[in-house]
Amino acid sequence: MATNCGELLPDPIPDHPLLNGRKEIGRGESTIVLDGDVVDGVERVFKVLSSPTDYAYYTAPDRPTGKHFPNVYADHGVVGRSSRGFPFHIVEVEKLYPLPGSGDAAEVATKLSTAYFDACMMWRNLAQDMGRIALHHLAVTPMGWSDTVQQSLSALEIFSHEYGALPDLIKADNLMMRRDGTLVFSDPVFME
Ligand SMILES: Nc1ncnc2c1ncn2[C@@H]1O[C@H](COP(=O)(O)OP(=O)(O)O)[C@@H](O)[C@H]1O
Ligand SMILES: [Mg+2]
Repeated sequence: MATNCGELLPDPIPDHPLLNGRKEIGRGESTIVLDGDVVDGVERVFKVLSSPTDYAYYTAPDRPTGKHFPNVYADHGVVGRSSRGFPFHIVEVEKLYPLPGSGDAAEVATKLSTAYFDACMMWRNLAQDMGRIALHHLAVTPMGWSDTVQQSLSALEIFSHEYGALPDLIKADNLMMRRDGTLVFSDPVFME
């Protein structure tokens, strides 16, 4: 399965005035997430990104935006280089929450992951292109998505194509939610 199931990024939090003293609240294969400030009543985090694909997802002028995509407040530039070999970028993003075991967002997320996995199986002989084709399949097949979810899948498909990113809708923690229960595609792509 062409999905990233590697180890957590081993790097220490980079030394940077914006990051020093902040609490680490999440870590993945290529990202460190630190608690941020509350601005106008909205909680923010700092994502320290070592994947060029993730950096594009959060900052490209044509990155997908809308109801189900993370709100991005600032690009704070580069701090050093990660053990993955790429520069670390600091991006300030809205704080999101893990999906609970039940509820509307969790149900849609489970359906997305399951349908994506099934489509990957269906198109597995296409090897490297499997994930993108599986995403395309989800975007064009009527599966009862809401209009906004369907539009988001199409937007993700375009982004993946334009930026050579591979979708990852299987790992549960790549789909998160806002406090109000809105499903958010937090980390739906990774690097080839
Ligand atoms: N906006 C966010 N707010 C709060 N926690 C987050 C946010 N984004 C990611 N996280 C947490 O940090 C972890 C790693 O982030 P993620 O973007 O998935 O990184 P990676 O690209 O390394 O997989 C996630 O699994 C999640 O628990
Ligand atoms: Mg992730």
